[in-house]
Amino acid sequence: MLQTIPKPSEIVAHVDQYVIGQDEAKRTLAVAVYTHYRKIARATASPGARVAKSNVLLIGPTGTGKTLTCETLSRFLGVPFVTADATSLAQTRFVNEEIEAILERLADRAGGDLDAARHGIVFIDEIDKLKSAEGAPRATSGESVQHALLKIMEGATVRLSGGRHVDTTNILFICGGAFVGLEKIASAAHTYGYIATSAEDNPTILDRLNRRVKPTDLFTYGLIPEFTGRLPITARFRDLSKELLVRIMIEPKDSIYAQFREIFANEGVELKVAKAVFEQIADLAIEYRTGARSLRGLFEELVTPVLYAVPDATDVREVVITSLFNEPILVRRAAGA
Ligand SMILES: Nc1ncnc2c1ncn2[C@@H]1O[C@H](COP(=O)(O)OP(=O)(O)OP(=O)(O)O)[C@@H](O)[C@H]1O
Ligand SMILES: [Mg+2]
Repeated sequence: MLQTIPKPSEIVAHVDQYVIGQDEAKRTLAVAVYTHYRKIARATASPGARVAKSNVLLIGPTGTGKTLTCETLSRFLGVPFVTADATSLAQTRFVNEEIEAILERLADRAGGDLDAARHGIVFIDEIDKLKSAEGAPRATSGESVQHALLKIMEGATVRLSGGRHVDTTNILFICGGAFVGLEKIASAAHTYGYIATSAEDNPTILDRLNRRVKPTDLFTYGLIPEFTGRLPITARFRDLSKELLVRIMIEPKDSIYAQFREIFANEGVELKVAKAVFEQIADLAIEYRTGARSLRGLFEELVTPVLYAVPDATDVREVVITSLFNEPILVRRAAGA
């Protein structure tokens, strides 16, 4: 079990090295995770005290860092982490077997250490796609998937292979989804509008209350009240701006640019890509509407021809790329140098 739990600010500082932007979501998640593990530590110290668990709902478009953030903070905390898709749970008739398989994977990630697995993090994606699937008679309805998930989110003993069992009481469940169109639903129902009567009311607090995702907004997506009730914390991931997309290619510890500079360095070549190129790639990525997901592919496409040529051209010491629309410049060593 975790000996010392990093403070929320320490968690955010670590995640910042890998995830660009999304400051609000990072903070919310860091506090949620910190509180979760603190509660467990306290309950372990004084047995009998029930831990009221606060699972988390992540809302945001595809490719904006939801999975990456959870993965990064789990790694930092040293707790096992797995992801699963709610849609695949809805496509099977054997939900409970699927759920067992998820926890089996969690135990694997923990290297078979069931005590570690009991304190892991399970991320269930595409929770917004659970609305009863039409024309799929053999599949489980979204609603019964929610009931099955509710059980393990609350805490249940799940059977694993080899006669082992894992208790899910202290596992943190994070649910994710894009919830397309949520903005419209939410703005149609500004619950707090009428409270804003006096001029002294803090407009930013009011704004925040209004931006809050209300459980009732989620009913539209087929989420049942009991289910939304188990996800009291919401964190929102925002669309990535061009500027953030550029930074994503350059800044993270394991950024795309850093990785390719390393590959070129292994060939004895320095790769130099102009800022303008990253901006062009970001523009394309915005058109593709897959968040940061398409960045790697676009960048790879750009450098692959050069990576093909470089091992043959042993006199090249530098590759300079100034635009997506110009040939890369190969700088050669002076003859005899
Ligand atoms: N904010 C970000 N900072 C750095 N990299 C990012 C960020 N957002 C996305 N990426 C990059 O895009 C990839 C996909 O992101 P991620 O898997 O976190 O998306 P997601 O929000 O979980 O999307 P989906 O809803 O489709 O599951 C990551 O592996 C990472 O390379
Ligand atoms: Mg994801």
